[in-house]
Amino acid sequence: MSIHSEVKRVTTHVLAEMKQNGEPISMLTAYDFSMALIIDEAGVDVILVGDSASNVMAGHETTLPITLDHMIYHASSVIRAVKRALVVVDLPFGTYQGNSKEALTSAIRIMKESGAHAVKMEGGREIKESVDRILSAGIPVMGHLGLMPQSIYKFGTYTVRAKKEEEAGNLIEDAQILANAGCFAIVLEKIPASLAKKVTESVSVPVIGIGAGNGVDGQVLVMHDMLGINNAFNPRFLRKYHNLHKEIKGAVSRYVQDVRTRDFPNEKEQY
Ligand code: KIV
Repeated sequence: MSIHSEVKRVTTHVLAEMKQNGEPISMLTAYDFSMALIIDEAGVDVILVGDSASNVMAGHETTLPITLDHMIYHASSVIRAVKRALVVVDLPFGTYQGNSKEALTSAIRIMKESGAHAVKMEGGREIKESVDRILSAGIPVMGHLGLMPQSIYKFGTYTVRAKKEEEAGNLIEDAQILANAGCFAIVLEKIPASLAKKVTESVSVPVIGIGAGNGVDGQVLVMHDMLGINNAFNPRFLRKYHNLHKEIKGAVSRYVQDVRTRDFPNEKEQY
C-alpha cells in the first residue's frame, strides 16, 4: 500500500467512519488480477480473497482443502490489481485453529507474502486468543460468524444459522467478544435479518452481511455468484446481476463455430 498513491484508499478507519455516517459498505470476493482490476475500478470498498476460491476457482465441494500457499497466490494476484479497495484475505482451514502461535505465523505469511491489508477468521470466543495475538502484531482482523463454511462437517448443512434463541444469544456475545478484542469488522453469514440487525446495533464496528438482511452496515457476495457465472447456485439471498454463464458460453460457441467454418481469422485479423 503506497502512502503516496493518488487514489484515496479504503482503510479500516474509513470503514469505521462509514458505519458512523450510516454509509453502506460494499464488499465482493476476487481471486485473480483481471477480475480484481475491474471490481476495484467499479468502486467496491472491500475485496475479500475468500477461501470460497476453494469452490469457485478449484471446484472443491467445501472450503476445507484450500491451503495457505493457494490463498497467498490468489491474494498476491489481487493485490497487484487493486488501487483503492481494502483487501482482506481468509485464513484457510487448519492454519489458525491449532494454537495462537500458529495463527500468527499464518497471518504474518499472508501479510508479508501477498501484501494484503487484513485477514479474516471464522469463529467467536474459541479463536479469541488467536485474534488477540494477531492484532497485537499489528494485523487487522475481520471476524466471521453465523454460517461458517469451514465448520460444515460439524453442522452438516448450509441452512440458516442461529434461528434458536440460545444460538442467537451466543452469536451476539461472540460478536461483542470480537468487537471488544479489536476486530475492525465482522461478517455475518446466513442468519435471520432481525438478529443481524440486533448484532449491528450492539457493536461499534461495521457488520457486513451475506444472507443477513438489510439491517447491517454493508453487504458481501461471492463475485462468481452475483455475476451468474455459476448457474447451479441459487440461494434466496443471492441477487444475480448478470448471466455470465450464458454470455460466456454463447461467446465461446460462436468462436468455435467461426474457427470450424474458417470465418476466423479474416483478412484484417492476420499479418
Ligand atoms: O470465502 C468467502 O467468500 C466468504 C464470504 C462468503 C463472506 O467468506
